[in-house]
Amino acid sequence: MKISELHTTVYFIYCILIVYTTKVTENRCIFDPRCECYISNLRVSCNHKNITDNNIPHFPRSVQQLSLWSNLIEIIPRTTFNHMKNLSELDLSYNRLKYLEEGTFGGLSRLETLSIKGNYLDYSFAIPNNIFKPLVSLKSLNVANNKLVEQSYLYPSFPSDLLSSLVRLESIEVDVIHPQFKLKLFMFPNIYRSLTHLTKLEIGLCNLPHVRNITFFNLPNLEYLDMHRCHTQSYDRWTLRNGKKLKYLDISESEFTDDCLSKLMSDLNFNVKLEILKMTNSFPSMSIFLPQYLALFLNATQIREIYVNNNSFVEAIGNDEYFMMPPTLKVFDFSNNILSKFYFGMPYLSILNLQNNKLGAYLSTERYTNSSETELREIDLSFNCIQDLSFGLFHGHDHAVNIDLSHNKLTDITFDLSHLVSLKKLDLSYNNISGISSQTSMNTLHKLSKTSKLKIDLSNNLLKCSCENLKFVQWMNANLDLLLNKDKCMCRFDNNDVVQLTNVNVIVKQLEKECSSYTTLIICIAVGISIALLILSSGLVYRFRWRLRYLYYMTRHKYKVFQNIQSYTSYKYDAFISYANEETDFVVSEVIPHLERGENLKLCVHQRDFVPGEEITQNITNGIHQSRRTICIITRSFLDSYYCMFEFNMAKMESIYTRDSQNILFLVFYEQLRPKDLPLVILELVQKQSYIEYPNDEQGNVVFWKKIAESLGSSE
Ligand SMILES: *[C@@H]1O[C@H](CO)[C@@H](O)[C@H](O)[C@H]1NC(C)=O
Repeated sequence: MKISELHTTVYFIYCILIVYTTKVTENRCIFDPRCECYISNLRVSCNHKNITDNNIPHFPRSVQQLSLWSNLIEIIPRTTFNHMKNLSELDLSYNRLKYLEEGTFGGLSRLETLSIKGNYLDYSFAIPNNIFKPLVSLKSLNVANNKLVEQSYLYPSFPSDLLSSLVRLESIEVDVIHPQFKLKLFMFPNIYRSLTHLTKLEIGLCNLPHVRNITFFNLPNLEYLDMHRCHTQSYDRWTLRNGKKLKYLDISESEFTDDCLSKLMSDLNFNVKLEILKMTNSFPSMSIFLPQYLALFLNATQIREIYVNNNSFVEAIGNDEYFMMPPTLKVFDFSNNILSKFYFGMPYLSILNLQNNKLGAYLSTERYTNSSETELREIDLSFNCIQDLSFGLFHGHDHAVNIDLSHNKLTDITFDLSHLVSLKKLDLSYNNISGISSQTSMNTLHKLSKTSKLKIDLSNNLLKCSCENLKFVQWMNANLDLLLNKDKCMCRFDNNDVVQLTNVNVIVKQLEKECSSYTTLIICIAVGISIALLILSSGLVYRFRWRLRYLYYMTRHKYKVFQNIQSYTSYKYDAFISYANEETDFVVSEVIPHLERGENLKLCVHQRDFVPGEEITQNITNGIHQSRRTICIITRSFLDSYYCMFEFNMAKMESIYTRDSQNILFLVFYEQLRPKDLPLVILELVQKQSYIEYPNDEQGNVVFWKKIAESLGSSE
């Protein structure tokens, strides 16, 4: 029982394997395993299989398209293709054909496309005159890249006479080898004129230093002319003017002078059907400004695509009226120049390729177009050393579908995305983006992912998975389907660990945990610092309270009596008397009579001299400031009185700040006080001897008043 079960299983696996292997080799032809067959033998290709003369497969007669590209065939046996009446395409390119036997193409009356490109045919005797005669349907012939032997510099010219029977020919690719030493000018021979359907000419191997007005004279119907890599240096006016049918022109990798180019362009002006112009590496290396004739002369054409890539333009600038892109233009390729400035009116352009230029600095503040509305669908700004983009760069880009900003030095998305309502792909790969800091950008991207199905590529950036970036990481987690190439998105933690963004959810959880303690820590530290600062500053304020108050009042005072105060050579009063209200009697009956009447001094006494309506504190500071000295009548009530102590301290400040630390305080001890009752500040003064005790007897009083008067007078 068990064993039979095992058998069944093994058999089942075997069957699966069989089915699998048949599936893999499904395209392999039955008649020859070196070939692949498609659509039940209608299409057969045996490319790159080292097939030689001796082992050419026998092809079924039903084959319509046959490709033997890149094999080792030197001579094709005559009967190889004769039975293939349905053959319409035959590709023998890149073999080692030395000669073609008569009748090789016999019977191929339906053949429309034949390529013998890249062989070693010595055309002068290797091809029978009537070799192409059976090909009555041939539309496309490729006889280019033909050398005598591999690594040879001898290129036999294709004998045009062979074309005479190909009356249906529409397209030909042929070499033009016209060495400079030949004095005769090159022209496509007369026979081409009889090929009335010939509209497409591609020149393969090309040496055509001078294009003369006779060069294409026999090709009046040309619509497609590819003469790239012809190293053409000069161009005769009128050469392409007669055409008027030209739709496609490729003059890439020529060595034109400016003069020749402008002649060519002015001729193109007459080719009203021109749609595509390729000028890859066509301008002299000296041209750093895009020539203005480019737009000027092409305005009359139907131009749709211009390629001026791989030149050395540094500036390409135009404006609305003067150098606007032609309205028919859809594709403009400026890649691989060294543009540092680019600016055009381009309301109708669809594809703009600015890849690999030096527009980084320019685009950080400027736009590449002034058109408020554009039709641009694809913009390639990759490889431009862009660090940031001007905020409004993509304004009016309502139709943009694909924007490539890869391989730059962007660090963030700070430019406005809100106009990009049709955007499907934003490529930001290979930049220095660590995250998106702007909440608006994140919201816009989220919105676009819903409305226009936008995808963005942040791969090959080193994103930052840190607490400051938590919002961005959370955003990524919520918008995972927005991101392309997630497996190539890397994220670095604060401890320099780098992880792939495959499981963002886990990263977010981890970060949220770390960051909550981080936030608490930040709050604690912030609160701690503010408390410390508060304590410190209140300590400082307390420590310097008198100084501050003094300065405050002095400032106010100075402001108020600015004029009066300017010269303070003499004081308004000789002394300011500071006393507690309990000592009013003593002041009125003793101090004022003795000092004012007896000694002729002027005193400032608060009950008498303070200006009514003024604040008491202001009055005190003014009084002290305007008096030569301040006499404090020290009693217990004085020490207890707020205002007395205020006066005492203000007088101290006055001495420090206004009188060069001269002692202006004079203490009169009206009562017996023990040293321990005195505050420290007063004790300090007592030790400096600036005090006197009231004696309270007849004899002593006389001496006492004299002494005070003396000290008041002696200060100056
Ligand atoms: C063809 O020959 C070359 C050189 O002998 C060999 O390296 C290559 O693998 C061959 N290709 C096939 C498809 O047999």
